[in-house]
Amino acid sequence: MKLFIDTANISEIRDMAWLVDGVTTNPSLVAKESRPFRDIIAEICELVDGPVSAEVIGLKTDEMVAEGKELASIHDNIVIKIPMTESGMKAVQILTNEGIRTNVTLVFSANQAMMAAKCGATFVSPFVGRLDDIGADGMGLIAEIRECYENYVFPTEILVASVRHPRHLLDSALMGADIATVPYDVLKKAFNHPLTDLGIQRFLKDWEGVPR
Ligand code: E4P
Repeated sequence: MKLFIDTANISEIRDMAWLVDGVTTNPSLVAKESRPFRDIIAEICELVDGPVSAEVIGLKTDEMVAEGKELASIHDNIVIKIPMTESGMKAVQILTNEGIRTNVTLVFSANQAMMAAKCGATFVSPFVGRLDDIGADGMGLIAEIRECYENYVFPTEILVASVRHPRHLLDSALMGADIATVPYDVLKKAFNHPLTDLGIQRFLKDWEGVPR
């Protein structure tokens, strides 16, 4: 499974650039940085050699296509993030036909994921954490999408989004998701286990008794 980092923060991306295969941003993450969007995206592309998702703001097909083309001109690694609406899927089809990669965002059902795949989306982003927040089964959605895509061999990659904790990451891998996009703090947590810390402490303590 590929690992993306879900942030627009340059320090976080720099710290994890050795590990991650790509980056996802969204308007809320970009707004936290108080810098021009274009500058942030261009800088991210210099740090990580992989897909970098940049989201459009327009809601009409022609607006999304125009914004998408403009963003895609910044760097070859840019992927255009488009919200899961009917107008958005028309934009995905147009951009795909022009060779521009897309990431369909705000996906909350397997039907939406199928529509995205039918329109040629490169990536589909189901938001598991936001589904869990309302008492639905976020990871259950990943299983459903995986099954639909396997039934028809859709090439669209499943990019698990709205990841909130390391268990989401593990479940993504167990379910055969192609990618998980993970916030910085959750990536850090995935390295840790209390028994590892305890084990290191114990080894170092015992080592003190080894004659030198
Ligand atoms: C994905 O591409 C989104 O940027 C992100 O995962 C949304 O996560 P949130 O629900 O924690 O805002």
